[in-house]
Amino acid sequence: MQDATLDQAIVDHKTYGTLDRQHVLFSMLRKDDPVHLTEPSGFRPFWTISKHQDIIEIERQNERFINAPRTKILSIEFENKVREAMAGRPMLVRAINHMDNPEHAKYKKITHAWFQPREVRRLEESIGSLARASVDQMLQKGNECDFYNDVAVWYPLKVIMLILGIPDEHGQRLLDITKAYFGGGDPEMQRGSDLIDATFAYVNFFREVAQERRQNPKDDLASIIATAEVDGKPIGEFETSSYYVALASAGHDTASATLSGGLLALIENPAEMQKLRGNPDLIPLAVEEMVRWVSPVKHFFRTATETYTLRGKTIKQGDNLLLAYPSANRDEDAFERPFAFVADRTPNRHVGFGFGIHACLGMYLAKVEMIAFMRELLSRVGSIDLTGDPAWTETSFVGGLKRLPIRFSRLH
Ligand code: HEM
Repeated sequence: MQDATLDQAIVDHKTYGTLDRQHVLFSMLRKDDPVHLTEPSGFRPFWTISKHQDIIEIERQNERFINAPRTKILSIEFENKVREAMAGRPMLVRAINHMDNPEHAKYKKITHAWFQPREVRRLEESIGSLARASVDQMLQKGNECDFYNDVAVWYPLKVIMLILGIPDEHGQRLLDITKAYFGGGDPEMQRGSDLIDATFAYVNFFREVAQERRQNPKDDLASIIATAEVDGKPIGEFETSSYYVALASAGHDTASATLSGGLLALIENPAEMQKLRGNPDLIPLAVEEMVRWVSPVKHFFRTATETYTLRGKTIKQGDNLLLAYPSANRDEDAFERPFAFVADRTPNRHVGFGFGIHACLGMYLAKVEMIAFMRELLSRVGSIDLTGDPAWTETSFVGGLKRLPIRFSRLH
């Protein structure tokens, strides 16, 4: 592939609309140019980092490689639109994934304890009930459904609504906003609204939640954020709604995509599905493998604060680096048989949740929720087969399947 074509493919949402295209592209980069200067037309240049070891090396050095101000692939035209819409600010929301220390630590501290295993364990029963209700809903469909749209998209949303205390009747509105937000370039997902509209819709939705919680604080995460203070002062309106947007967006399609991509992997690898049915204690390992396999977060950027040499390439101060998580998770030097889905893979040092101080804040919650769902599904649903072609969202940022038509039988 010519460099110009390759560079355009890295930023093109369509590349991520088929699993093969994405992995062919990154396998080539890992082999031929793992630290690749990428100069697509219409985008500011950046380095594409495709090796597992390099992503860890960069993420570990969070003072040398910072998150602000560029966090994801956006065209120059779009970046200008954002500045216009935001009175000069370079981003639509500003949450912990856009912050660096010392601010990052202060904002992360607001919710960090809440996301630790001890706290999340308090919710295990409620999450288990949501998992049970989701499988009930699937079984009520008869013996066929579109697993992504009928089941996988709803369950993580219900978990988010549970942790943020959002009433059931707002589910459809929140789902539409999230789809538009993560639809990338995919017309089926965006339904006519763009990222700016979708972000404002998100912010407005959560502004109401924050106002309500300030008036009536409860013992929940939404109230912790609404009443949070940093350096002894309440956090601003923009930072408050950004915090909610970050949690609701980061926690939703990531898990929907992992569950549906994970189920597809089990359908395509019946021996792996059998392993789990024979020994459900392997489900936690299988969930890790699903995150590696699907890698729903396709990238985040970092910016170098000083000149740095990586694999003989000179990265200059101010240069941006794209961390290609799905590529790292198929790296031949980090995993044995990286292109095989191995339900009980150990060790499994994937970077699907990132690494270092910015590693996924909701990682433990995500695992609890996905384990609960898989346990429920595999104990109540028997055979599962495809009835049509699966389809992937065309997005370079976060996403996975957008359609997974299946036929299934109930076990009891
Ligand atoms: C399968 C599910 C999930 C996956 C694969 C995933 C993946 C990721 C990745 C790759 C990052 C960036 C890490 C880095 O920069 O090193 C991240 C950050 C983050 N995730 Fe998740 N995530 C998932 C679920 C969740 C959930 C359920 C929540 C919360 C409700 C959440 C909240 C966050 C937040 C707040 C950040 C920013 C952390 C920071 O910058 O300090 N995620 N996640």
